[in-house]
Amino acid sequence: MSGDYVRIFDTTLRDGEQSPGATLDGQEKLEIARQLARLGVDVIEAGFPAASPGDLEAVQCVAGEVGTSGGPIIAGLARATEGDIAAVWTAVQPAAKPRIHTFIATSDIHLQHKLRMTREQVLQRTSAMVTYARSLCADVEFSAEDGSRTDPGYLYEVLAAAIEAGATTLNIPDTVGYAVPGEYAALIGGIMESVPGIDRCVVSVHCHDDLGMATSNTLAALQAGARQAEVTINGIGERAGNASLEEVVMALRTRPAVYGLRSGIDTTQLTRSSHLVAVRTGLSVAANKAVIGANAFAHEAGIHQDGVLKHQSTYEIMRPEAVGLTQSKLVLGKHSGRHAFRKRLEELGYTDLDDVAVEHAFNRFKHVADQKKTVTEADLEAIVADEVYQPPEVYVLHGVHVSTGSPSIPTASVTLATPNGEYATGAATGTGPVDAVFSAINQIVDLEVGLEEYVVHAVTGGINALGEVTVRIRSEDDTGRTYSGHGADTDIIVASARAYVAALNKMAIAAGMQPASGGAAEEGGGVEDEPIEAATAP
Ligand code: KIV
Ligand code: ZN
Repeated sequence: MSGDYVRIFDTTLRDGEQSPGATLDGQEKLEIARQLARLGVDVIEAGFPAASPGDLEAVQCVAGEVGTSGGPIIAGLARATEGDIAAVWTAVQPAAKPRIHTFIATSDIHLQHKLRMTREQVLQRTSAMVTYARSLCADVEFSAEDGSRTDPGYLYEVLAAAIEAGATTLNIPDTVGYAVPGEYAALIGGIMESVPGIDRCVVSVHCHDDLGMATSNTLAALQAGARQAEVTINGIGERAGNASLEEVVMALRTRPAVYGLRSGIDTTQLTRSSHLVAVRTGLSVAANKAVIGANAFAHEAGIHQDGVLKHQSTYEIMRPEAVGLTQSKLVLGKHSGRHAFRKRLEELGYTDLDDVAVEHAFNRFKHVADQKKTVTEADLEAIVADEVYQPPEVYVLHGVHVSTGSPSIPTASVTLATPNGEYATGAATGTGPVDAVFSAINQIVDLEVGLEEYVVHAVTGGINALGEVTVRIRSEDDTGRTYSGHGADTDIIVASARAYVAALNKMAIAAGMQPASGGAAEEGGGVEDEPIEAATAP
């Protein structure tokens, strides 16, 4: 299929979640899926349902809640087996527009060393499994894994068999990020010319970034006739990641004379989407990352600043507003009421919050407004992320006290409500106040844990900005799984404690511990009610 419209197939929740260190629970997947729908993606690949019952449930939930009529297509990934395909169908069926995405490797390297199958067997499996998928679902995508390293003649045969069996989209992945733009474009061009029935299908591309060419390869393939780009927010994904959605979309938009192609993405939602994915996966974005990095629109050299002041086009090829990087507006003040607060949340797209969630967020907003006077859109998003979209609480943070300075030994005491309904206090020293707080928490929780990453950033400019902290921890048991947590507060030590406890709560739930109920946990009331001792140097 040709035309100038490029379908954006977002695989943040599937390939993106395969990034080392990124794990998302069902609630986080849903939150990101809602944002992807606001962003205007055409397809959300929500997961790999055969991987675990939890993944199946998460895809099912995205299909039911976000895949409503008028919403995006919801896809799930399946190996070319009946069991995987049936699991995807169970998961995506609630969507108004469900898709089954099935794949099998086609390169000789994979056939010989991984699948131990002959070319003929793979050809037959392709036909049989696409036929089976089509018997369940009208929208079937077939991927020839390691397509870019497959003998083109054989690839044409496999694709022709998939079309014959009813595939509606054909994807040619550069699975190991080996292709270079000219070669990949030639492969796609050859497919467009040589595969019988190709004009009835959408040709898709899926590029990995091992040589840093995922975006260039994707764009070259689109020029050669592909009309679906498989991408992720922030370019996260297996190993070096996937082509980044924001780069591909902004290249199409910024260079219309070169590409003559368009997407349905609302680019003003890019910054917000990027931030949400970074916070939820715990994978922070490099400051110099194209389009959405913190420095992407920062002009440091005097000569550049002078040029931009004289005329923006001297050194800016995109407007910051085009990617949603507007000066945060003052949205509400401390005298704003519940009604105005709820309305503003709805305008920001938070239409799914129940009364209890809004009440929690409102109380937190009042507290923040007291401290920082002007509450911006970005602050509101941080408040909602911190107050509403948190994992179930096994441990509840009740109080943090820190003494630090120079010269002195940073010392912290932390009180948590524990699962047995009691309060427990831990006290520790550390190399700094955050280290002391984490060590104090470790004294209370019954989990073996290592800190993998700690990132703090200011939500807005100014000395009274909310600080947002993301931590990633690794379970030191046999699973070695990682968990991320997020916290926001005007005090970064409190934000750090909130983030750490959130990550520990995810780990505790995964270890089979029950969320707290009753006793100290319910009286807790949250850390914001507690005074924080910000000690000065003795
Ligand atoms: O990289 C790849 O080949 C994939 C396919 C399963 C689409 O992710
Ligand atoms: Zn991939």
